Amino acid sequence: MDHLVSPSLLAADFGHLENEVRMINKSEADWLHLDIMDGVFVPNISFGFPVIKVVKKVSSKPLDVHLMIIDPDRYLSRFCDAGANNLTVQYEACIHLNRTVTEIRNLEMKAGVAINPHTPVSLLKNVLPYLDTVLIMTVNPGFGGQLFIMESYNKIAELRKMIDEGGYNVLIEVDGGIDTTNAARLIQTGANVLVAGNSVFSSTDPEGTIRRLKRLI
Ligand code: DX5
Ligand code: ZN
Repeated sequence: MDHLVSPSLLAADFGHLENEVRMINKSEADWLHLDIMDGVFVPNISFGFPVIKVVKKVSSKPLDVHLMIIDPDRYLSRFCDAGANNLTVQYEACIHLNRTVTEIRNLEMKAGVAINPHTPVSLLKNVLPYLDTVLIMTVNPGFGGQLFIMESYNKIAELRKMIDEGGYNVLIEVDGGIDTTNAARLIQTGANVLVAGNSVFSSTDPEGTIRRLKRLI
């Protein structure tokens, strides 16, 4: 399959949010990535339901919502109501992960699990049959604009093998420090979805950068 590009709105200009979403609509982006941070699971607070609802009204792309919050079960249906199409929870924040991802699918959203850089992909073995996406954090979550962690390539390759050998229909999403210099190697290694925040929104030509991430040029 062709890989997907999911620009992360965290790096957008929130003073001109509607224009930023319209730019994404016009671009070759496949999804729009929204990072939800609670100030507990990660040392940062981003935005919540009112912002997601506004984005949903304007966006023509599916909303790819990444929850960096503890105990996400409390809010799954509210993220659904706010307009999330894909809902990704952090492995480290879920005690009953199977229940959580089953509930996400029952709400008719795509279910994703994100793992921090220190979390081995092998821990996902028994949950892969219940997932649509695994998100490998390629930086420590909490902030945009950080340096890509090189060890991530080994994790992507190992997960690719697990998914292919098991015959699962699961996409590998990578998130953090992704730009046009590492995109091609990430896809070659086995990733399917590239999340990119600063490399897109801080670029002088965001639409052009999305195009390059999509075409790997
Ligand atoms: C980090 C978030 C990322 C972030 C990526 O915790 O999960 O989605 O927005 O930003 P960049 O691409 O700037 O590293
Ligand atoms: Zn993210």
